[in-house]
Amino acid sequence: MADKLSDIAPDDVDLRTDVPHPARVYDYMLGGTANFAADRAAAANLERRVPHAATSMRANRKFMLRVVRRLAAEYGIRQFLDIGAGLPTSPNLHEVVQSVAPESRVVYVDNDPLVLLQARTLLSGDSAGRIAFIDADLREPEAILAGPRLRDTLDLDRPVALTLIAVLQFIQDDKQVRDIIGRLLEPLVSGSVLALSAIALDGSAAVVSGAVDSYRSDGMPIKARTSDELARFFDGLDLIDPGVVRVNRWHPDEDAAAVPDDHVYMFGGAAIKP
Ligand SMILES: C[S@@+](CC[C@H](N)C(=O)[O-])C[C@H]1O[C@@H](n2cnc3c(N)ncnc32)[C@H](O)[C@@H]1O
Repeated sequence: MADKLSDIAPDDVDLRTDVPHPARVYDYMLGGTANFAADRAAAANLERRVPHAATSMRANRKFMLRVVRRLAAEYGIRQFLDIGAGLPTSPNLHEVVQSVAPESRVVYVDNDPLVLLQARTLLSGDSAGRIAFIDADLREPEAILAGPRLRDTLDLDRPVALTLIAVLQFIQDDKQVRDIIGRLLEPLVSGSVLALSAIALDGSAAVVSGAVDSYRSDGMPIKARTSDELARFFDGLDLIDPGVVRVNRWHPDEDAAAVPDDHVYMFGGAAIKP
């Protein structure tokens, strides 16, 4: 499937299928088909170092789905800005929140061109006009916020949930992360939400360091932080219970509760802009 996708990529889009990409490695680990040999080799390298990596990634994905469902169902959030969205993987964020409130709007942002190419399949039918995809970089918040597609889809006079799920580890510098989050939250009204997750060292430092080494050696530098460092990214916001926790521990359903803690290397949380 992915090999066919590379055939239909527009001439001006270079998918760089010769090197691994985080979105495609993650897609492969989740059982998807939007990946290439270089991604599968990187995934194999990761699994050699971190045998439970796929469990951790699935737990992260399900955390994201529980967070957005809760934000839609209990906090009345109807707009979502998901940066570092990844390749479409069912169920997608918009499917979950639109199952709670069909009028919900979602803007997906990613800097892997394959995400945009794959996303075309989602932009038809019922969701037309209520979801948008933007090919942009988290490190350029103003370009994301000012884009016409975002402004056509989201009303910034109403609360927005900004979701940064499993993406912050790709930005090494804490100050840069704080700056990006501040710039993205600045135009959002009170009642807006920041939800994030990232790889964390707590309780699994040796295994997580193995993951960091594996990604680095495959040309995808990542940084592992502690949960306390992740919690600081919420400074100035009102953390929703239970705070920043291992992702399987955030309002777990039966499925999440059954996942062993020592197979999960991601921490996350959500907080409200006062
Ligand atoms: C591990 S995946 C997570 C996907 C999804 N958020 C999830 O948790 O299921 C990380 C995603 O972040 C994207 N990404 C990495 N750095 C980025 C950047 N600087 N700007 C935008 N997207 C980025 C990758 O392309 C990839 O799709």
